[in-house]
Amino acid sequence: MKYKAIIFDLDGVICHTDKYHYQAWKAVADKLGIYFDEVINNRLRGVSRMESFEIILERYDKPMSQEEKEVYTTEKNEIYKELLNNMSPADLSDEVKETLDGLRAAGAKLAIGSSSKNAKFILERLGLGDYFDAISDGNNITNSKPDPEVFVKASQFVGEDAKDCLVVEDAKAGLLAAIGGGMDCAAIGDAVASGLATYNLTTFSDLLKVTEA
Ligand code: BG6
Ligand code: MG
Repeated sequence: MKYKAIIFDLDGVICHTDKYHYQAWKAVADKLGIYFDEVINNRLRGVSRMESFEIILERYDKPMSQEEKEVYTTEKNEIYKELLNNMSPADLSDEVKETLDGLRAAGAKLAIGSSSKNAKFILERLGLGDYFDAISDGNNITNSKPDPEVFVKASQFVGEDAKDCLVVEDAKAGLLAAIGGGMDCAAIGDAVASGLATYNLTTFSDLLKVTEA
């Protein structure tokens, strides 16, 4: 095993919550009469809740106070959390679970590095509530990806140096965060196209190959 710790982004890597984020933001955007589609939704990957709303508001021509923004982002989160109740351990693929188990058996510590404030709730829904050695998420950071803070905190939580950590990401902002933190990174899904990663994964289980010493 080449790494002492592997830090996983959650949304888009361990599980797929895109459709729920989309539905919840769409409900808020519709209420405000703002155009919103899946292409705009893709720009929200890895970005914090409030920064996501600011991207949606690029198409809103009236001023909005901070208090109003809080009301709408809270409303979005309530809808999103309701939708997350649809998730269950059946949403964790065998490939992801077997790969995680294999990486742990090979000696790596496993951590989460997610911008989401719902990370623990999602992990519980997936049956992974107690699985990871550490969780760094939207609740313990001040700066969202591409700032490295979430991954730096994760490496501190597991007590490993950045150079001994590998980050797994599906968003360009997340790859930039890993690189900024001095960590190697593996890209999956849309993040592959950025060409920024140390490794490009075709499928999640490729992690077992690329981390072999
Ligand atoms: C990231 C998602 O994991 O979490 C983003 O990729 C999302 O799309 C962000 O905006 C914040 O999530 P939450 O659950 O705190 O609203
Ligand atoms: Mg992601």
